[in-house]
Amino acid sequence: MADENKEELVVEAVGLTKIFKDFWNRPKARAVNGLNLGIKKGEVFGLLGPNGSGKSTTIKMILGLLYPTRGELRVFGQDPQNVSIKSRIGYLPEETYLYKYLTAFETLDFYGALFGLDAEQRKTRASQLLEMVGLAHAVDRPVGEFSKGMARRIGLAQALVNDPDLVILDEPTSGLDPIGCREVKDVIRLLASRGKTVILCSHLLADVQDVCQRVVVLYGGQIRAQGLLTDILRQEDKTQIITPRLSAETVAELKNFLSAHGVKDLDKVAVDNPGLDLEDYFLEVVRQATEQKVSTAGAHAPGAMPEYLQGNVPTGQQLLQSLKGDAEEEKRKAEAAKAEAKLRAEMAAKEAEKLKALESLKGEDKPSEEEVKAAEKQALDEKAAKDREELNKKLAGLNFKK
Ligand SMILES: Nc1ncnc2c1ncn2[C@@H]1O[C@H](COP(=O)(O)OP(=O)(O)OP(=O)(O)O)[C@@H](O)[C@H]1O
Ligand SMILES: [Mg+2]
Repeated sequence: MADENKEELVVEAVGLTKIFKDFWNRPKARAVNGLNLGIKKGEVFGLLGPNGSGKSTTIKMILGLLYPTRGELRVFGQDPQNVSIKSRIGYLPEETYLYKYLTAFETLDFYGALFGLDAEQRKTRASQLLEMVGLAHAVDRPVGEFSKGMARRIGLAQALVNDPDLVILDEPTSGLDPIGCREVKDVIRLLASRGKTVILCSHLLADVQDVCQRVVVLYGGQIRAQGLLTDILRQEDKTQIITPRLSAETVAELKNFLSAHGVKDLDKVAVDNPGLDLEDYFLEVVRQATEQKVSTAGAHAPGAMPEYLQGNVPTGQQLLQSLKGDAEEEKRKAEAAKAEAKLRAEMAAKEAEKLKALESLKGEDKPSEEEVKAAEKQALDEKAAKDREELNKKLAGLNFKK
């Protein structure tokens, strides 16, 4: 920890210890034992370890749900009990904790309200998040009826409702089908690319390997191993070459060549056809079925990442579109601008008509100059307010993006 820049540490633990006591206050389980941790801003950090190794206990201390028995713990530089940091953290617990009689929408609305979001924000975020996790079709279903995978999905949506800077996910992919797993991993990667910090606890090591930059492996509440995945998993004493398919003769020649260049133990030279990743294979099969419109009563394809989670950073697609200059978008913008100009011209014409009417009024009734001025002002004020309202209404209807 000494060489790490303290400024950018989102979670910092020194000698963190949690001992659970029994009814008579006797030590029962040393769940976490002298943990030293430094989790940096923007990294996806994997907390690994066998059952009972202290992962969930560590997470609960980070969340301020459990008091450490000993040691120091700082989250965003603060004591985890500090209420001001709660709104910066999103948490998906390992157990389902949802209110089973609330619908999917009401669940997100409820958690949004806990974070003080107004009704409009809650409504927008809830529908965007439900779309993102592929539950848009189940908005009005009570979450108590949800399958395990659906419950994980709504749990993930709940963890993101407050647009947190630190997202803690305890077993996020357990119970999810491979599509759901890939979707959660994509969400994690996107969150990290937006500068959010993610702590991931999972027994599914392939998923951890896919998204985490750094991991610690706990055993008996202590760190047994830790480091960057790229460092830990690299086999420095081996070289891998992937080429298009080689003939048996070329392989034989290659072995002779290697032998001539001092490679001993030729029986350790492995030549075979690399296999596909099972996840990629599975997703390709599903993609083809979807493309062929094979019907399914199961989970639906996930939707896009909500805009508020994307921050100001454009997605790759948006970037490409902006570079290419999307013709459709340009056309839509031109149409909207034309309609806006037409509206403004209509308003100006109406205004001129009204002024003309006022002019003629002056001549007929011969009111005093003050009366004319007051009448003019009142009429113009009323008209301006009405026109503004009408223009805003029509512009809103056009959904014109600046
Ligand atoms: N509330 C509690 N009271 C007593 N002991 C507890 C409590 N919570 C956890 N423990 C004990 O602390 C140890 C660590 O548990 P923890 O839940 O942190 O493990 P974990 O790494 O999350 O395991 P899993 O992979 O099974 O989720 C275990 O021995 C467990 O029995
Ligand atoms: Mg656990």
